[in-house]
Amino acid sequence: MSPYRRIVILTGAGLSAESGLATFRDKGGVWAKYDYREVATPEGFARNPALVHEFYNMRRRDLKRVAPNAAHKALARLEREHPGEILVVTQNVDNLHEAAGSQNLLHMHGELTKVFCTNCRMGCSWTDELSIDIACPTCGKAGGMRPDIVWFGEIPYHMEAIVGALARADLFISIGTSGNVYPASGFVAEAKTNGAHTVELNLEPSEGVTMFAEAIHGPASQVVPAYVEELLAD
Ligand code: OAD
Repeated sequence: MSPYRRIVILTGAGLSAESGLATFRDKGGVWAKYDYREVATPEGFARNPALVHEFYNMRRRDLKRVAPNAAHKALARLEREHPGEILVVTQNVDNLHEAAGSQNLLHMHGELTKVFCTNCRMGCSWTDELSIDIACPTCGKAGGMRPDIVWFGEIPYHMEAIVGALARADLFISIGTSGNVYPASGFVAEAKTNGAHTVELNLEPSEGVTMFAEAIHGPASQVVPAYVEELLAD
């Protein structure tokens, strides 16, 4: 039986790369094509909401043509078959973990399929195009609807639950993330302080690779199923 009871898994854009969604900082990634200050900050949205809506409409459309890959499926399998607790904390705003069957899942950077109204703060599911002309289904005012995405300068979601889970975890796995963005980049240190074993699964060594006790490099669709197989066999 696996020596690990409580496992926290942090995922990033590299996990969805083989499903056909671009990462952010790789060559040809999202931030090579767009200035994050224009499309991923509250100030950018205030300056040019139409541009921001177009950016997220495009990314919402992308969701309709992609499917979970072997890595998403392996993590869902781990949750189903592992006798202990599995929590997936994702920085991804796509819905591929859910599509693969993960249930104990926290989207710390928001979700492409959700929006909220900046006037009344009510949120709802949204799979279509969004624009400044669309009225809020709750308060009826137009102009305030925005993607439910955590932009730079905003506070990630679920931090209390994540910090609590990191304090209890005996294994922390980081998958497909460059380790550039705080606070997710600090999770490995947090888990280590609390005594967890730490593992990086990434295409190449990330910025913070030296923080991990173990690192396995390769495409997520290969290294994640293999690692899950090992955990379940232990
Ligand atoms: P990045 O684009 O910064 O990093 C993606 C990582 O995935 C890199 O280290 C790649 O080497 C790795 N990678 C690429 N293809 C892979 C594959 N097939 N298998 C395994 N690994 C692969 O993306 P994130 O770390 O997720 O936030 O970025 C974190 C946050 O920065 C995002 O959530 C987003 C962005 O700005 C917001 O928009 C708020």
